[in-house]
Amino acid sequence: MFSEKIKVAVLISGRGSNLKALIEASKDSDFPAVISLVISNKQDAGGLKIATENNIKTLTIDHKLFKSRQDFDNEVTRAIAQNNCQIVCLAGFMRILSQSFVDRWRSRLINIHPSLLPAFKGADAVGDALKYGVKYSGCTVHYVEKEVDSGKIIAQAVVVVEDNDNKASLAARILESEHLIYPKALKQVCIDLKK
Ligand code: GRF
Repeated sequence: MFSEKIKVAVLISGRGSNLKALIEASKDSDFPAVISLVISNKQDAGGLKIATENNIKTLTIDHKLFKSRQDFDNEVTRAIAQNNCQIVCLAGFMRILSQSFVDRWRSRLINIHPSLLPAFKGADAVGDALKYGVKYSGCTVHYVEKEVDSGKIIAQAVVVVEDNDNKASLAARILESEHLIYPKALKQVCIDLKK
């Protein structure tokens, strides 16, 4: 049993299935973190509804309303800090973050990516893995560095690529694994922070 749960902010841009997995895991009294803020840069992100249904505070911070990436990132940092969140999980957040944001949240900023990094970085990881013809793919949770999809690996899961897989079928199986490893990785980050 953890004495006090660490508050976590989750940044999303879309559907929010990983957000949901984190929320569900955090309902366990033994889980060391609570999702207390969800920030989306898109007003129509499905994950916002998931958060609201779970009584979690949501904010939409539209990047298009800011003059620069830095201004947007500063506003996101302000919101996270104001809500006393100590860890930031990126879950399908489709914005590249500035060096100062990465530095501000160092060791507390993590991301999930649908490939076995360092293979297949980028926006079409599942498609690229299929095109390459790999027999195994999977997913990775890692600390965030300025370079996209790099940073120390926290957790990975392997998914076998079947001969008849297409992008949708492989992505769906990888997603199932994402939902298993993201909560485990967040738990590990919490434990490491308390050391
Ligand atoms: C996931 O595939 C994740 O690995 C990638 O973006 C997707 C987000 O899906 N970074 P969801 O919004 O969590 O359902």
